Amino acid sequence: MNILLLGGGGREHALAWKLAQSPLCTALFAAPGNPGIAEHAKLVDLDLEDHAAVAAFCAGQGIGLVVVGPEAPLVDGIADSLRAAGVPVFGPGKAAAQLEGSKGFTKDLCAEAGIPTARYVRCMSADEALAELVGFSLPVVIKADGLAAGKGVIIAETADDARAAIEDMFGGSFGASGAQVVLEEFMEGEEASFFALTDGTAIVAFGSAQDHKRVGDGDTGPNTGGMGAYSPASVLTPALEADVMTRIIEPTVATLAARGTPYSGVLFAGLMLTAQGPKLIEYNCRFGDPECEVLMMRLESDLVELLLAVAQGRLGAVPAPVLGQDTALTIVLAAKGYPGTPEKGAPIALPSAPEGARIFHAGTAHKDGALVANGGRVLAVTALGASVTQARDAAYALADKVDFPGGFCRRDIGWREVARAAALPAE
Ligand code: AMP
Ligand code: GLY
Repeated sequence: MNILLLGGGGREHALAWKLAQSPLCTALFAAPGNPGIAEHAKLVDLDLEDHAAVAAFCAGQGIGLVVVGPEAPLVDGIADSLRAAGVPVFGPGKAAAQLEGSKGFTKDLCAEAGIPTARYVRCMSADEALAELVGFSLPVVIKADGLAAGKGVIIAETADDARAAIEDMFGGSFGASGAQVVLEEFMEGEEASFFALTDGTAIVAFGSAQDHKRVGDGDTGPNTGGMGAYSPASVLTPALEADVMTRIIEPTVATLAARGTPYSGVLFAGLMLTAQGPKLIEYNCRFGDPECEVLMMRLESDLVELLLAVAQGRLGAVPAPVLGQDTALTIVLAAKGYPGTPEKGAPIALPSAPEGARIFHAGTAHKDGALVANGGRVLAVTALGASVTQARDAAYALADKVDFPGGFCRRDIGWREVARAAALPAE
């Protein structure tokens, strides 16, 4: 089968690597792709906002499956356009992608379905939000409703900060995404991510992960898209995972199906593990980046078989995904300046990766025949280990061999999980 992968980051490199391994894959195309993806796929120049052009490419190449990596084309309805043209797509349609496209949509769905989440109000104007603020204790969480590349959430410690954030959002600092705002109660606990595949009816677990959002060691400094991640996250015990499935994932899938807008694709649940049990922070309608890199390292199943079954509504008829017992850990090498203005064009020389380790390209390009940095997050250096400590040591050993003087990484990826492992009694 011919497959088209949309996107060009580290998530898509990990997906391309796994898709290309499948005996079901005849030819893999990627748009726009990147130099790492080019090792597994033929790169094609397509405008992802031009759905008719993407559909025409699929018809011309006999594409039997489109895998959509990032959220923006999904929220924009590319899956609907391609399905209407008869192309199987992995990823939700526009209506179900509102789970990521609108925070208020998700909160209302939680209220309707009784899904545990923070208390909230949706506000349409600054005056309304300022008036509602008195109903919340501090800190209070203020969120731009729409997509904001992970930047639309402010945790305000003081009433002045909260008022400033509200004025700022309605003042247009997040563009149209801030035309509506959600005020939310602050939840205490540890964060973890849980993934599930669903075709709208069948649902299967696809593993857990934790990431590091802050740019600096010790979880300090500004938020990023993620400076590293590991899977599994042992804090999400089998009992908690079962709880998340029955109280969060299943009612979400059932509610969207009952509304006539079934969800098909991967559901990425951001969770807060509170004293009252897991609560939903937010949904993403695609794999995480860099969470996808660690999930793909652990995946033993045929990815094409799974994603095609989701796309064709046959998920219940294929074997459930198998994720290996080993821990995978990834370290993001970012360009200096990230998450502000990353320096572009710094040269990179890559070592060869040993067995059980891989370097995924996130933001690279070829310039005059040489590999250079071309984004904020540049590489995701990933390794498997029998324990999180072994995975971490293998990943740092490889990261330290990367010659990228224009880059930096955190030195403490996995610290929480490593500390947990160290606290366990020796076997
Ligand atoms: P989101 O984009 O909704 O995932 O929010 C980004 C980050 O803000 C989350 O990963 C949490 O660290 C934090 N956050 C969001 N909502 C809450 C909440 N209600 N309570 C505590 N932290 C939150
Ligand atoms: N690493 C977080 C995300 O992909 O949204």
